[in-house]
Amino acid sequence: MVTSPAVTIISGAASGIGRATAARLAARGDHVALLDMDARKLEATAGSIREAGGRVESWHVDVRDRSAIERACAGVVEKFGTITCVFSNAGITGRQPVSAMTLAEWNAVLETHVTGSFHLCQVALSHMVRQKRGAVVLTSSDYAVAGMRDQAHYAAAKTALYSLTKALALEFAPYGIRINAVGPGPIDTPLLRAGRTRAEWEERLRILHARIPMGRLGRPEEVASVVEFLLSDRAAYITGQLIQPNGGQVMW
Ligand code: NAI
Repeated sequence: MVTSPAVTIISGAASGIGRATAARLAARGDHVALLDMDARKLEATAGSIREAGGRVESWHVDVRDRSAIERACAGVVEKFGTITCVFSNAGITGRQPVSAMTLAEWNAVLETHVTGSFHLCQVALSHMVRQKRGAVVLTSSDYAVAGMRDQAHYAAAKTALYSLTKALALEFAPYGIRINAVGPGPIDTPLLRAGRTRAEWEERLRILHARIPMGRLGRPEEVASVVEFLLSDRAAYITGQLIQPNGGQVMW
């Protein structure tokens, strides 16, 4: 059971889905620990949560850096006394056909999403097992199921994250810790717009609007509400699942 106030770690908290989720969880009363590699945006996010009356601390961390994750988790326990929930969400992407993709591009995406989540989950869960309660959400994607042209590294990483979610759910269920994944469709964040000219973005929007049954992009807040649900006792019997706020883009 997740009792209040939960102490929740959020990676990729400085922007987009992570930022919206941090604000929502702080508003429900969680003590939020923000992790991100963008120091400026991280401080701005922490500042806005603090101004709204939330209890927040931030750690400037690259999730690929194991020792930085260990220091951050130890810092969270020192500051807030425990770790109750984790939202492993930091992510990057890139667009390149497989035939042109460099090993460095492949590794950057896999290491950020998969190895980064492995580090954060392994370290945080080592603290969480002692209390025999808690919940974790990993950010996967529609592409985990549907695949994606020109983003093989990203789609492969997102499928791996869903698989990691299931393995973690099986391993930690006996400790009363639930592990789920959220698999958003296209959400209007800097990540979705990155690397596109204005004309390319408008063309992309046209295609997405035609493809998505609900006819629009999702908002970060619409993912945050699902994450908040999964990190609450309202989801007390849900573990190992991929929940997809995607406007109906993928149904399976
Ligand atoms: P965003 O670009 O707005 O936010 C991502 C955050 O992660 C940024 O603040 C960035 O600094 C941080 N980050 C990136 N690499 C990091 C690292 N190595 N260490 C620490 N922080 C790092 O993007 P958005 O859209 O909010 O993405 C959040 C998650 O949602 C990602 O995992 C993304 O793959 C996933 N997602 C996004 C979708 C979308 O359409 N926007 C759809 C499906 C999944």
